[in-house]
Amino acid sequence: MEVRKAHVRDAKSICELVNHYAEQGLMLHRSLESTYDCLREFWVITEDDTLLACAALDVFWADLAEIRSIAVAEAGQGRGLGRILIEHALEDAKGMGISRVFAMTYEKEFFIRLGFCETPLQSLPEKIWRECLEWYDKGHRHESAMLIDLAGDAT
Ligand SMILES: CC(C)(COP(=O)(O)OP(=O)(O)OC[C@H]1O[C@@H](n2cnc3c(N)ncnc32)[C@H](O)[C@@H]1OP(=O)(O)O)[C@@H](O)C(=O)NCCC(=O)NCCS
Repeated sequence: MEVRKAHVRDAKSICELVNHYAEQGLMLHRSLESTYDCLREFWVITEDDTLLACAALDVFWADLAEIRSIAVAEAGQGRGLGRILIEHALEDAKGMGISRVFAMTYEKEFFIRLGFCETPLQSLPEKIWRECLEWYDKGHRHESAMLIDLAGDAT
């Protein structure tokens, strides 16, 4: 198993994995174009050249970044791969001097296990609310806003 930053050859598999769950309404779709645009933000886990998991860290503002597009293939779930990717993304954030990282998710318990706490949507920038409202307007369930304060994090 290999944990690394994404290569261009991963883009199509990242897109397929994310869109597999997007089809189930669990996360946002990603176009291949946006995957290439954001490729530098992605961490991946592969096994025998097959993509098992991906996650992106999107820098939002001086003190804030978002975990996006975290997905673990069904065959890889429950093996700690999601945890590994979040931990790498948080290390990246710390390395860049970012103090807070958030995620919008239906997987609240997973993020709690990783040290995040639920936060009111209003505590996040307005751009996020707008994305959420568009998501709800399309008939999707409300997500939980999860936040970790890296300045106060002991990990
Ligand atoms: C959510 C997801 C990323 C979790 O990945 P995973 O690799 O299976 O999770 P891990 O094995 O790393 O689990 C880490 C911890 O979270 C817990 N956990 C994981 N999923 C959980 C869930 N659905 N409910 C409660 N706890 C959960 C694990 O028990 C583990 O706890 P521990 O380390 O204290 O023992 C994965 O299930 C997934 O890709 N789901 C579909 C796509 C999706 O919903 N993505 C999230 C969009 S924001």
